[in-house]
Amino acid sequence: MKFVSLALAATALASLGSAAHADTVILTADAMVDVERGRLVDDPVITIVDGVIETVTSGEAPEIDGAQYVDLSGQTILPGLIDMHVHLTSDHDLHGYRRLSVSDERATISGVVNARTTLMAGFTTVRNVGAGSFGDVALRDAINEGDIAGPRMFVSGPPIGITGGHCSDENLLPPEYQSVGENVADGPWAARAAVRKNRKYGVDMIKTCSTGGVLSKGTKVGAPQYTVEELTALTDEAHSHGLKVASHAHGAEGIVNALKAGVDTIEHASFIDDEGIELALENGAFLSMDIYVTEFILGEGEAAGILPESLEKERKVGEIQRENFRKAHAAGAKIILGTDAGVYPHGDNARQLSRMVRFGMTPAEALRAATSNAADALGQIGSVGVIAPKAHADIIAVTGNPLADISLLETVSFVMKEGKVYKSN
Ligand code: ARG
Repeated sequence: MKFVSLALAATALASLGSAAHADTVILTADAMVDVERGRLVDDPVITIVDGVIETVTSGEAPEIDGAQYVDLSGQTILPGLIDMHVHLTSDHDLHGYRRLSVSDERATISGVVNARTTLMAGFTTVRNVGAGSFGDVALRDAINEGDIAGPRMFVSGPPIGITGGHCSDENLLPPEYQSVGENVADGPWAARAAVRKNRKYGVDMIKTCSTGGVLSKGTKVGAPQYTVEELTALTDEAHSHGLKVASHAHGAEGIVNALKAGVDTIEHASFIDDEGIELALENGAFLSMDIYVTEFILGEGEAAGILPESLEKERKVGEIQRENFRKAHAAGAKIILGTDAGVYPHGDNARQLSRMVRFGMTPAEALRAATSNAADALGQIGSVGVIAPKAHADIIAVTGNPLADISLLETVSFVMKEGKVYKSN
């Protein structure tokens, strides 16, 4: 309840003022995007009870005593968006050596601000794939307990990776510092132990790295990290606890290694080849390809502290990733929206949607990647990413038809999460 009043003060939304009667909300709008069928439905009427959608009809709004009415005339509603790859505790202007000056505690406080920014941009659910000292667990819990405003979070805690790898370690300091990352785990048993530790401290899923990365010093995007044996142990351990696994992988070999090990999502998937696409299809694994971030890295990255070697790597990755996005999509691969926000400014997450359309998707497909497909990859079908009975009342609105112009999602006019209004223009 605490943040209802905060949100109300911010948006001066008097109609939802009395928390005592906040149980039933009737929401009406000009139109609703039927994301599954890729068409608009006129005059939707959504009945929400205690933050959960009860009915979805169209036409006249029912008259219910004590209910609150949210009238979004002139606007088009759709399910709250889901970003499957964010770093809420990272900031876009603290790259390279600048990162070393930021403690995990300070980063978590930035996360409080970034969580709110992300929610206000229309993202009502995120998957946070990598945060130090379980700052993401703390953020998730603070949001769920109503202390701060933010999206519903599914979190990985500290990523698990090899010595000197893209996940978990950092290679910025010379050897005399003997710096070792939080979740460095070499070998199958160490990988299992790291999964167990993360589960103990409250994560929802596991993040690992099966290749080098762009932004890590001294790693190669094409080079595998972890053996199939290690990845299989890690994934088996995670799955035995009901935790899904996301593997960062740019190079083709590391993508295939992770898929052979049975991971659930491949992050980046830049150099995915036919074998990788085939395996992803066979396993039902999802691809989370962050095809917007390259524009920020090459445009503003240098000023943000990104290392010259990383800029060099990005020049080799960005374009091929976009071509392979087109190829993987054409082959029928399951694709989810994952943006890597945090590398670039939080709140700009939706910019990737128009790139997904430019590189081969229909607007409806891009919306499914950011709603129902993402819900599927989270194991949350029917609960998020959909406007339907029994789902969380996570609803956003734009002016105009996003099926005609997907970039409308970059400026949402209305945000509701679990029946509470956070933004209303
Ligand atoms: N976090 C990722 C990495 O360091 C960013 C990759 C960004 N580049 C891209 N084209 N998607 O590897």
